[in-house]
Amino acid sequence: MEYPDFTAEYQSLMAKNLTKDVFEQLKGVVTKNGFSLKDAINSGLVNPDSGIGVYAGDPESYTCFSPLFDPIIRQYHGFTGSKLHSTNLNPAEIDHHNPDPDNHYIVSTRIRVARNLVNMPLGPAISIVQRDEVEAKIVAALTQLSGSLSGHYYALAGMSAAVQARLIDDHFLFKAGDKYLGAAGLNRDWPAGRGIYHNDEKTFLVWVNEEDQLRIISMQAGGNIQQVFLRLAQALTELERHLHFVFSSRLGYVSSCPTNLGTAMRASVHIKLPNLGLDMTEFTSITEQHHLQIRGIHGEHSESEGYIYDVSNRRRLGVTEVQCVQDLYTGVVALIAKEKELAGQ
Ligand code: ARG
Repeated sequence: MEYPDFTAEYQSLMAKNLTKDVFEQLKGVVTKNGFSLKDAINSGLVNPDSGIGVYAGDPESYTCFSPLFDPIIRQYHGFTGSKLHSTNLNPAEIDHHNPDPDNHYIVSTRIRVARNLVNMPLGPAISIVQRDEVEAKIVAALTQLSGSLSGHYYALAGMSAAVQARLIDDHFLFKAGDKYLGAAGLNRDWPAGRGIYHNDEKTFLVWVNEEDQLRIISMQAGGNIQQVFLRLAQALTELERHLHFVFSSRLGYVSSCPTNLGTAMRASVHIKLPNLGLDMTEFTSITEQHHLQIRGIHGEHSESEGYIYDVSNRRRLGVTEVQCVQDLYTGVVALIAKEKELAGQ
């Protein structure tokens, strides 16, 4: 492999950090699962509009390719990596329940975490047999969930058109064919080994073998962040009785994309801000102060619609889960205050 020709359109952290020196150092490195530098950077090479541009094929990728991954992790999370990552999923420590108690702005609240199983490659390097094994283990654990978390698993392979239409309608289905995931090797053997679980109340969802082996999601209408967090924490406790997730004190919960390391948590609200939406400079300045990011409501890389925005925590490593939710709470309170001020003018 030759040193890539990074033209001006390449703005990713990968392009910025893969200097000729780093390239020379890493070009011959292969992890024990056969994952190479070429595999790690392919998504960013094929997609010059990537923001990050790298994926790990296995937990070892983070050490084998550390001259490239470490600066990317530091720059994204603003985390020096010298302190250890610690986790705090205690719902009792969330002192504020709802940033919008009168229910005027927040449409819905969602918190997800990513998890992967120990002793398995991550999605970009997993084999079809291993992926099926991961699915079987996860489904066995999901079947044990009790009370309001109990529900059904729907495998993508062989899914009927009716079930598929219903899941799309509920906005539960993850999209096929994402170009970043595709170039990272995450769409291989599609749809084998993938599926979706949800509880009967439709407030708890698990995606199996999408970007990570598990995406565990708690959500509901309105702004009660504490209830959403509590449900997620309870589900994690139950699932951990059956599944062993990869965790390192340096990187936290290990994920295939470095943006998700640490808590692997994205806590978000869909929030209607018609006045702030007209002033994106002000909007972004508030979200940046609170370590939040803005997305459209149809997922990552989508546009907003009807002045409804998806606002979520940006940092995940070197902060606890409770802090991620606190970032979201204080940021959303500030956004609502500004929206009220602008509406009054
Ligand atoms: N690989 C894409 C990029 O570099 C997405 C990165 C963050 N999002 C994610 N789903 N992991 O722009």
